[in-house]
Amino acid sequence: MKILAIESSCDETSAAVVERYGETVNVVSNVTATSLQIHAATGGIIPENAAREQVKYILPVITDALLQNKKLKNKKEEWNLANSILKNDIDAIAITYGPGLIGSLLVGVETAKTLSFITNKPIIPVNHLLAHIYANYINRKEENIKFPFLGLIVSGGHTDLVLFKSHTEYQWLGGTRDDAAGEALDKTGRLLDLSYPAGPEIEKRARLVKEAKVKFKSPLLYEDTYDFSFSGLKTEVLRFVQSHQVIDTNLKNEICYAIQKAVVDVLVDKTLKAAKEFNCKNILIGGGVSANETFKENISKNAEKLELSANILFPEKKYSTDNAAMIGAYALLNGSEKNWKLVNANPELYFA
Ligand code: KG4
Ligand code: ZN
Repeated sequence: MKILAIESSCDETSAAVVERYGETVNVVSNVTATSLQIHAATGGIIPENAAREQVKYILPVITDALLQNKKLKNKKEEWNLANSILKNDIDAIAITYGPGLIGSLLVGVETAKTLSFITNKPIIPVNHLLAHIYANYINRKEENIKFPFLGLIVSGGHTDLVLFKSHTEYQWLGGTRDDAAGEALDKTGRLLDLSYPAGPEIEKRARLVKEAKVKFKSPLLYEDTYDFSFSGLKTEVLRFVQSHQVIDTNLKNEICYAIQKAVVDVLVDKTLKAAKEFNCKNILIGGGVSANETFKENISKNAEKLELSANILFPEKKYSTDNAAMIGAYALLNGSEKNWKLVNANPELYFA
């Protein structure tokens, strides 16, 4: 089975062709265009701008994914070949139908529905959050991921702990009550004039610091709940910045270290506690923040200290941020085919 997958829930427009190769999900192509530069200029995403960019990129990205980035003599030839690959080689079209920004989602969903209608191929609607977890199946043997496993989604929009007893039986254990982990990094980064999104720069600056005198609280760290809360961190950092007239490079790096520590400590603690409580065989982590090396190192070290046997998995870096290959991976492993008339964008979709 070969799937054309499309992702357009936020500021990335992505298309991929994925297939089952023996026991693994193989990515034939994965093409992503991003409108990040536009949002960097405004220090955050303006939904209307993101949707306009989706319209611009969606067809070129799908064409490139079908052609595996091959360039032909002219656009017409590329278009014709992409059409014939879609008709002859693709079995189904997978699409992110939520959660996300409504304008961005609509561009992908309506495009997928149109392609499904024209080619008479089934459509597979995919929950973006579940797909972040399933990014871990890409290029890995399915048998190496065992149930029950714990999923942690840490992105710019979400922080959720989900227990999977099987592909179809899952239970939400807790999530953020306010800002997501990545959102907290991006908002505090703005207070420090860092590049947007701030996660990678915070990580880079934090690496230069051995021990920081600056400390911020890890909210809900010692509370008996799988919920998270990150909005207080932003206020704490704001107060700290306002109380200092000069913030030189060293102090800025220390603040970054303290922000990262506050976020990472609580993510590590709650994830490992949940994995222990539910005897999880694996922990699958996904979303943009899962690209953070300090987080990866700390969670692995702490799991060892606790003698936790759960094997901790992260997606390859290119599949941790938003991409269509993860949408295809979910569709291959657990998707259900629908008629295009039954598929609609749902910006509020959660763990249904
Ligand atoms: O999954 P993603 O690409 O988009 C959403 O679905 O939100 O995640 C984006 C988030 C941003 O908040 C960004 O700051 C964060 O992931 N991020 C990182 C790193 N790379 C991206 N956070 C910490 N360390 C990183 N290396
Ligand atoms: Zn995402």
